[in-house]
Parts: sequence; structure tokens; C-alpha cells
Amino acid sequence: MSNVVVTGASSGIGAALARLYARRRARLLLIGRDEARLAEVAAACAGEAALVETARADVRERAAMEAVLRDFDDRHPLDIVVANAGVTHILAPGIPVEPALDAERVLATNLIGAFNTIGPAAERMAARGAGRIGLVGSIAGLRALPYSPAYSASKAGLKALGEAMRGNLRRYGVSVTVASVGFVATPLDDGIASPKPFRLSAERAAERIASAVASGRAHVAFPLPLAAAARLLALLPPRLGDALLRRIPVSARKRDE
Ligand SMILES: NC(=O)c1ccc[n+]([C@@H]2O[C@H](COP(=O)([O-])OP(=O)(O)OC[C@H]3O[C@@H](n4cnc5c(N)ncnc54)[C@H](OP(=O)(O)O)[C@@H]3O)[C@@H](O)[C@H]2O)c1
Repeated sequence: MSNVVVTGASSGIGAALARLYARRRARLLLIGRDEARLAEVAAACAGEAALVETARADVRERAAMEAVLRDFDDRHPLDIVVANAGVTHILAPGIPVEPALDAERVLATNLIGAFNTIGPAAERMAARGAGRIGLVGSIAGLRALPYSPAYSASKAGLKALGEAMRGNLRRYGVSVTVASVGFVATPLDDGIASPKPFRLSAERAAERIASAVASGRAHVAFPLPLAAAARLLALLPPRLGDALLRRIPVSARKRDE
């Protein structure tokens, strides 16, 4: 039985990852802030005969995350940790600069929160000489998007964090996988009005992420056509890339939090 932690497990991709690991009879720790939604996901996982614990914690709070992760690891040495919790923010039309509070919330959750998750886990895994870490990033981390600066920065930073930690942790028997994910049908994505080519279900995204993490793959980017488009955009002269991206109509459908 694998001991698995998933953050952002109360919704979307995290909930789908939780259900996937539950079907594989993992012992799970599900982390999120919304107790009721976490309990719902935990009940679905327990129905699959998995052993499930939940922890109401904010990934932005380093000390709280350390305490939760170390307590679980003391009892059930971690095999897999997936830092998935994330938020987004879309720049409203006519606003030249993203409001600082929104940018701070996105960077603190998506980047600092991911470090607060994998840092304590990686220390324990490295000491034991084994473990698998997953970071749920975005296609926006491959080529930054003008309508979501902080989100793009958080996901580019997450990719860099994963690459850097991977290089160091390999010698300790710990793998680090970054998943650069395209559009996935979740509440986060439902909050954004835009064209969404090749949109996947949360279940399909969870399968792709879990399989890359299980094999210790360094990086997986999907769906392929969208990942290829982002890589191509990154190679174009910046002005041309910016002009193409500005043609995509994107707006927030509702408040992000
Ligand atoms: N959906 C997409 O199209 C898409 C595309 C690329 C990448 N992603 C990435 O996939 C990940 C999951 O997103 P999703 O689409 O599944 O969104 P979602 O359905 O809104 O789920 C986000 C999860 O993150 C948790 N979360 C947010 N802030 C948190 C905090 N401060 N502390 C602890 N948990 C927090 C939420 O739980 P609580 O509300 O309970 O705290 C929720 O469980 C994110 O990192 C996102 O950037 C999504």
C-alpha cells in the first residue's frame, strides 16, 4: 500500500487524483481548506476501500503544512506527494496591471504553497532514499499569457522549482515530476471564459499526472497539440507571440475565490 498526499484534493484535478489513488488502495492524506468538500471526496475514496485522512490546511502556511506532513509521515512514511493546490486570476479588460493582492495570492498559493508541500516531504523521502513528487503546473508555464501574469509566473516558477529540485534529489532516490497541463474541466477552468481547445476531463488529467509521477518522468505536457503550440509560441519573436496571444478573447466568468 502506497502512502500518498494530494493537496487541493477537495475539487477538480486533486479530487480526481484522490479517487484514482483510492482505486489503487492507497493510504491517503487529502489536504484542502474547504472541510465539507474534502469530506465528500474522502467519503468517495473510502468507498473504494482506501484508507483516508483529511487535513484542513492552507498551503500558504509553512508551519501548518510542515506539521501536517511530518505528522502523517511519522505514522505512514510518504511514497508519493502531489502538490496540486492552485488558484488563478484573469486580468480584467482595460486594466493594465494585475492588482497586487491578486498577484500575491496566486504566487503564494501556486509557488510558495507548492514548496511548502514538497519541501517537508522531500526532506523525509531523501533521508529514506526513496519517494515520488509531482507538481501540477500549466501550459501557461511554457509561454506566459498576457491576461494572467501572476499565474503564468507561478507556473513557470513551479517548472523551474521542479527542474532544480529534481537535479539534486535524484541522487537521494527521489524523483520530481512537473506536469504542464492544458484546459481541464474543473471549477477553476469554469471560471474563465475563453476558447478551450482539447479540454480534458479531470479524470483523464489525473491519469496522465499519476502515470508520469509513478514512472518518475521529469516532465509531462498535455494535451500534446496545446503543449506544442505553447512551445512554438515561446520560440517566436516576442512581439509576434504577444500579438497572437492578444487575439484570444479571455475573461473571468466569476470571482476566483
Ligand atoms: N483546470 C485547468 O484547466 C487547469 C489547467 C492547468 C493547470 N491547472 C492546475 O491544476 C491544479 C488544480 O486546479 P483545478 O483546475 O482542479 O482547480 P479547482 O477545482 O479550483 O481546485 C483547486 C484546489 O486547490 C485548493 N486550494 C486552493 N487554494 C488553496 C490553499 N491556499 N490551500 C490549500 N488548498 C488550496 C482548493 O481547495 P479549497 O478550496 O478546499 O482550499 C481546491 O481543492 C491547480 O494548480 C491549477 O493551476 C488547472
